[in-house]
Amino acid sequence: MHPESDERRLRVPGDKSITHRALILGALATGQSLIRRPLVGADTRSTAAALRALGVDIPELGQEVRISGAGLHGLRPSPDVIDCGNSGTTVRLLMGVLAGSAFDTTLTGDASLRSRPMRRVTVPLELMGATFHELEREDRLPVRMHGGALRPLRYDSPQSSAQVKSAILLAGLTGSADVTVVEPLLSRDHTERMLSRIGVPLRVGHDRSGRPDVTLSPVAHLEAFEMDVPGDLSSAAFIVAHTLLAGRGRVRIVDVGLNPTRIGFVTVMQRMGGRLNIENARESCGEPLGDLVVERSELTATRIAAEEIPSLVDEVPVIAVLAAHADGTTVIEGAGELRVKESDRIRAVVDNLTAIGALAEERPEGMVIHGGARAADATGSTLSGVVRVHDDHRIAMAFGVLSAATGGAVRVDDPDAVGVSFPGFWDALADTDARGDQ
Ligand code: S3P
Repeated sequence: MHPESDERRLRVPGDKSITHRALILGALATGQSLIRRPLVGADTRSTAAALRALGVDIPELGQEVRISGAGLHGLRPSPDVIDCGNSGTTVRLLMGVLAGSAFDTTLTGDASLRSRPMRRVTVPLELMGATFHELEREDRLPVRMHGGALRPLRYDSPQSSAQVKSAILLAGLTGSADVTVVEPLLSRDHTERMLSRIGVPLRVGHDRSGRPDVTLSPVAHLEAFEMDVPGDLSSAAFIVAHTLLAGRGRVRIVDVGLNPTRIGFVTVMQRMGGRLNIENARESCGEPLGDLVVERSELTATRIAAEEIPSLVDEVPVIAVLAAHADGTTVIEGAGELRVKESDRIRAVVDNLTAIGALAEERPEGMVIHGGARAADATGSTLSGVVRVHDDHRIAMAFGVLSAATGGAVRVDDPDAVGVSFPGFWDALADTDARGDQ
């Protein structure tokens, strides 16, 4: 028998952040771009549909997507309001693109997206010369905007946010303006990597006080490109969590994106005692990737400091669920940004953990989780009850991991929410448990 025959191999859907960016840059390029293994989920469908409404030729998303780019100045006004669904990345990056496009656009989203702040993006874009009208409430969608030729901007962002940074860089591209963005801590850098790879002059470095900054100089046109999208580490995190908690053998998740600005979850799991390793590390299309190899493990509590948050911002809910099963008390600090995600994730996590019998406390900028929910024997979570998802795919999946570990004693009230970023999540969870050599 092959020594690794009891190893289960899985693949997770394509990276959501990279897919959004590849679709947008493909739409703005001159000529035909090819994107392989994009995420085909509700959020990336929202981006594709918005670009179609703006006159770009993009087919239905599938294993491969060929985009006929409209060019940097080739977008056309949409006859309809553009509905970005649940996707913050779609609306915020599009605001940047449209800030440099000389026509009116009205943007909206679902109830979750309409409750999220937009001024973090509209304020810097207004400084460049775009205009925004909030149609119902301050700082919220729906918004009617008008773009055109823009002024240069140097912007000190109060948040470490890749959406804010990317919106400004994209506005620099379509509005032909030099831009510099400074952030408190480096947020995910997929936009910078993709732009550099297709020949846009970018300078990435630090300002005098050591804060990360990026400067873009405008170009006359963007080259079309080919891109292989790696698996989404933020989706792989749920499979890793399930295996750490209740796995029945070794699991290998292949071709996962391992961009250094995203891998805080791996570091934290290793620190908590998780048997999680990276193998076959390599680079493709300017992005690091590799396999994640994981086995069931006893976890110990940890402290997550503010400096680590940008590198694991979307993984906090699943880390919290694991912390409820770890030995000791876990403290998560400096995570105020979680309050403005698809739901208020600090409140949603703490309320749901409490509702199913775990001990957790809310802090203004984080949470404290008292471990010990693992029963002394077996797959053994002692938790049970119903979890409220609040239109948030990552709350559904974080607690979905528990649902599987408890044989359904924990139930999520909206299992379909996973389709935003991980269609097939429930099957993937079941597959993780199926033995590879059977
Ligand atoms: C994303 C950036 C992050 C992240 C979101 C995707 C992106 O948001 O939480 O899921 O693709 O740029 P912020 O930029 O608001 O931190």
